[in-house]
Amino acid sequence: MGKTLQIHSTLACDVLIIGAGGAGLRCAAFIHERRPDLKVFAVTKVAHPQKSHTGTAQGGLAAVDPKDRTDSALFHMFDTWKGGDCSSDQNVVRKIVAGGWEEVQWLELRGMHLSRDEEGNISKRQFGGHTVEFGKGDALRAVFEADRTGKGIMDTVWGEALKGGALFINATVATELLFNEGRCVGAVLFKVKEGEFVAALAGATVLATGGSGQVYRITTNCRNNTGDGPAVILRAGLPVMDPEAVQFHPTGIVGPGILASEALRSEGGILRNKDLEPFMERYAPKMKNLAPRDIVARSIEMEIREGRGIMNPDHQLEHVWIDLRHLPDHVHEVKLKEVASFFKTYANLDSRTQLCPVRPSNHYHMGGIPTNEYGEVQKSADAIVPGLFAIGECACASLHGFNRLGTNSLLELLVMGRCAGERVLSFLKENRAPAVKDAGEATLALFARYLEAQGKENVGLIRQEMRAMMTGKVGVFRDETGLQEAVASLADLKRRAAQAPVAVKDMRMNQELLERWELDNLLDNAMTIAQGALMRKESRGAHFREDYPERSDEYQFHTLVSMTDFGKVCFGKRPIDMSIHESGGEHAERFGIMPRKY
Ligand code: FUM
Repeated sequence: MGKTLQIHSTLACDVLIIGAGGAGLRCAAFIHERRPDLKVFAVTKVAHPQKSHTGTAQGGLAAVDPKDRTDSALFHMFDTWKGGDCSSDQNVVRKIVAGGWEEVQWLELRGMHLSRDEEGNISKRQFGGHTVEFGKGDALRAVFEADRTGKGIMDTVWGEALKGGALFINATVATELLFNEGRCVGAVLFKVKEGEFVAALAGATVLATGGSGQVYRITTNCRNNTGDGPAVILRAGLPVMDPEAVQFHPTGIVGPGILASEALRSEGGILRNKDLEPFMERYAPKMKNLAPRDIVARSIEMEIREGRGIMNPDHQLEHVWIDLRHLPDHVHEVKLKEVASFFKTYANLDSRTQLCPVRPSNHYHMGGIPTNEYGEVQKSADAIVPGLFAIGECACASLHGFNRLGTNSLLELLVMGRCAGERVLSFLKENRAPAVKDAGEATLALFARYLEAQGKENVGLIRQEMRAMMTGKVGVFRDETGLQEAVASLADLKRRAAQAPVAVKDMRMNQELLERWELDNLLDNAMTIAQGALMRKESRGAHFREDYPERSDEYQFHTLVSMTDFGKVCFGKRPIDMSIHESGGEHAERFGIMPRKY
């Protein structure tokens, strides 16, 4: 077809932040507070940063107020370690938990409207797996703005980044990282509206592209979460970490899987099966409805498997109920107003008088681009890529291990946004940005292939097939046969994708072309998830193998997976940091390998 693609322009900046959600903009705001003279570009895939997925976060942000006499950072650290099935890095847990309250204050001082109680104190709610006294009591640890906490955070970080002078590039994706002598020196951008490629040269590059939930058919994630960050990392020959650690939120609204916040259960909502039995009492006698998510999600799936689910006639999907009918009007009308409106909109139900249908929905990826505690991207267990940082859901430091506790992600994205910002500033002090040759060759060749492809396949249908297959075979429960079938099926889908033509050749606002690129990203992410899950012959946190139902000490490590040729994966390991346990200090024994009972 002979279409000649080219780099239209080059831009230079001090810091290039790819992804302008909560993590990216917290980082931008920090950098500008310290160094208003720096030129910071914040690139967002969506039309406006306010549309970022962080804005959909509902329930809260975990942080311990140092003045709280009933709670302590130590208890939060213990819960995070136990909740992650003894797979979090303890140096990261310590650092992020310690930094939480400073972030709450930062947000409030800049105008976030955290909910307060009648005495004027910041309100707090409990989320699954959060306890005091090492599991003895329930912890009220999550601060929130009603059930739209993410929206409050986005308003604040966006306002601060804008005020600081961050320059936004909207409706744009990063297709390739640029390197010079091993150092990352920026990225190639594709501006979707203009249909133009830009070489963005930067002193430091920060990936904050968010999640990859679109790998699954049923997900709480928005349409843009196609794992773009991990995909460009893999294409650069770098590894991703723990991709098999995928979280399924217990309560997605049946059908689309839209999030019905854990705050519903925190405010007293009860999960019930078709006989209206409050079944969580059988699975987690102590924490019941507020056990960690992996346990609640598996319990719901077990109820359905054993014939105690309810068939939804519209979606032909089985589900359980969440019962909110007994909650006070104030909860329905003020505290959980937005979720109540979702039940009305998507299921035509009034949660004050009717039972609401829910079932597990893909929600969060604990794995991602491996980083150290400063957000520096790692190329192996002990070496970083100078100039390259990753934060937020696309990254894995790892705070969450193999199962994230609710409200720990907003905590992480804020603290890591700030910490990576600090590290970027010290990196820039010592390093000047070197020039780069041949910027964009790989991207131009890739997009030319998309535009020249011939055949009868269809990008949208392949995407749909992949998502349904991943939900079926690499979901809450996994086994060898299903995972092998998933790997084979992904190889076939990749082969078919090469024969999916892009009908429209005009580069401007070419959604079809963007979707073709996203499809490759999704397939890359899906392949590393399936291969990681196949390799890990044990059950750990949210990764549950029916053929290996127990956790095994043999797998007490993080998975590193690289994939330069689709499907040909190369595994490495990163040790799990157990420095709190190994320090032998006070309570060190609480941070050993322990059984997980709730
Ligand atoms: O259930 C929720 O509101 C989600 C919170 C989270 O994922 O941290």
